[in-house]
Amino acid sequence: MAILVGYLEVVVAFLCFFVLSYWMKNKNSSPIVKDWPIFGMLPGLLLNVGRVLEHTTESLIYGSGFHEFKGGWFPNSDFVVTSDPMDVNHILTKNFANYPKGSDFQEVFEPLGDGIFRSESDVWKAQRKFMLSVMHDKRFELFLKKCTRQKVEKGLIPVLEHVSKLGIQVDLQELFQRFTFDVVGLLVFGVDSNSLSVELPLIPHEKAFDDMEEAVFIRYLLPKSFWKLLKWLQIGEEKKLKEAWDIFDRFLYQSISAAREKLISRSKSPVEEEEEFTFLSAFLADQGGQTDYTCENSNKILRDHAFSLMAAGRDTLSACLTWFFWFVATNPSIETKILEEIKEKLQENGNLRFFSTEELNSLVYLHATLCETLRLYPPVPFNHKTALEADVLPSGHQVPQNTKMLISFYSMGRMHEIWGQDCLEFKPERWITKQGGIMHVPSYKFTAFNAGPRSCVGKDMSFIQMKIIAVALISNYRLQLVEGHPVTPKNSIILHMKYGLKVKVTKRFG
Ligand code: HEM
Repeated sequence: MAILVGYLEVVVAFLCFFVLSYWMKNKNSSPIVKDWPIFGMLPGLLLNVGRVLEHTTESLIYGSGFHEFKGGWFPNSDFVVTSDPMDVNHILTKNFANYPKGSDFQEVFEPLGDGIFRSESDVWKAQRKFMLSVMHDKRFELFLKKCTRQKVEKGLIPVLEHVSKLGIQVDLQELFQRFTFDVVGLLVFGVDSNSLSVELPLIPHEKAFDDMEEAVFIRYLLPKSFWKLLKWLQIGEEKKLKEAWDIFDRFLYQSISAAREKLISRSKSPVEEEEEFTFLSAFLADQGGQTDYTCENSNKILRDHAFSLMAAGRDTLSACLTWFFWFVATNPSIETKILEEIKEKLQENGNLRFFSTEELNSLVYLHATLCETLRLYPPVPFNHKTALEADVLPSGHQVPQNTKMLISFYSMGRMHEIWGQDCLEFKPERWITKQGGIMHVPSYKFTAFNAGPRSCVGKDMSFIQMKIIAVALISNYRLQLVEGHPVTPKNSIILHMKYGLKVKVTKRFG
C-alpha cells in the first residue's frame, strides 16, 4: 500500500510540474517561495531543479536565513533550511545532542554500513577518537606526504606532460578524481588502483564508486516509498546501485585481504612501518579498542571503516581542487600572487621536492585562496539533522519534534550578513590579517568542514595534500580554460562541476 502511495506521489508530482510550469511560464511570474494548495512548495522546487543550490540561497535570503519548506499533502516532505550562523552554532554545537542525522539519512546512505558517517552516540565517539589518533600520528603524516608527492610525480605530471606535448584538452576534474581515488586507497589499505595514468584506464571499482554516489543522490531526491519500490523490484537506479555496490564491495574485501597478508608477511621493523602507516594497519593493530580486528569476521567492520574514509577523502578533495584551479585559471592576478609566494617562500623553480609542513604553512596566500574556494564552493553543500525534541532556535524559530533540518553550507558562503556586501566576489585577501597571517573565522560561519563535535577530522590533511598539488601544478604549468566550456555545479551530494573542467595545459619551463 505504502509503495502504491509512493508511486502515485511521483506521478502526481510530475503532472503538477508540467501543468504548473506551463501555467507559470505563461503568466511570466516566478515567486521565490510560493506555497500552493495540495502541492505546497514542490512546484517551485521542481521548476528550479537544475539550480537547487541557487534556489535554496534565494529562499534563505528572502526568509532572512530561515526557510520552512512545505511539501503540501505529500507525506514526510516538510523540512526547514537555515543559514543563520547562530542557529547553526546551536544545532551543530550547543545543542548537538538534540540533532542527530536522523533515520532518513541512515536509510539513504545505507551503503556506507556502520562507519563513522552513519554512527551515532558511543559507537561514533569511539570511531572518531580512533580516527583522530591516526590523523595525529607523525607516521601517518609522513606516509600521507609521501603518497601525495609520489602520485604527483608518477601520476599527475606524466599526464600533464602528455597533454601539453600533444596540445590536447583534458578534464582536470577527472584527473583530480583519479588522483584522490588512488591516494585515498593507498592511505586506507596501501593499495594503489593506478587509475591516474596517461591511458586514463577504466577502473571498474572506481566507476562503481561514482555510480553509487549518483544512485544515492537519486534516493535523496525521490519520495522514500518510491525508491524503496525500485529497490524491491530491483529496477532503475536501485538496480544500478546494487550492481555497483557488489563491485565496490569486492574491491574493498580484496583490498582488506591483501592488506592483511602484507601486514603479516612484512618484517616489523619500525622503518617499514613508518613507510606504510595505513588506516588499516592502524585498525588491525588497535588491540586496545573494543573490536578484535585481527579475526576474519571483523572484515565487515573494516569494510565499513574503509568505505567511509574513501567517501570522506576522495570527492571532497577533488571537488575543492577543481573549483580552486578554475578560479586560478580565470584570475591571472591571483595566479601571479601564488607564483610569487611559491618563489619567495619555497625558492621553487619547477623542481619537485619534499616540502616540510612548516614550508607549506608559510604559503599564506595559497591557504587564503583555498579557503576562499571552500567558502564559495564547499564540497559538501548541505548538512542534515533531525530534531529529537522540540526546540527554539536562537533566531526565535520554533522547531517541532522530528523536524528535518538542512543547513545550507553553500548559501552560508553567499550571505551579506556573514561576509559583507562583496560576499559574491572571489577575494583571497579577505582571509589575510593586517599582520600577514590567516584570519580566524569561527567554524559556525565558515562551515566547509562542518562545526562542533562532528567537524571534519581530515581538515589538516586536506590542506597539506591540496598545497602539495597546487605548488607542483602552478609552478610547472599554465592552465587555460577551453573557450566556451560551461562551468556550473552539478546536482549531487558533493559539489562537483556538471561538465568537468576542460583545460589546455602549457609548460612554464622548456
Ligand atoms: C576539502 C576537503 C574536505 C572537506 C571540505 C570535508 C568536509 C567535511 C564535512 C562537511 C563533514 C561533515 C559531514 C557530515 O557530518 O555529514 C566531514 C566529516 C568528516 N570528514 Fe571531511 N572533508 C574533507 C576532507 C576529508 C578527508 C581528506 C578526510 C580523511 C580521509 C576526511 C574525513 C572526515 C571524517 C572521518 C568525517 C566524519 C566526522 C564525524 O562524523 O565525526 N575529510 N568532512
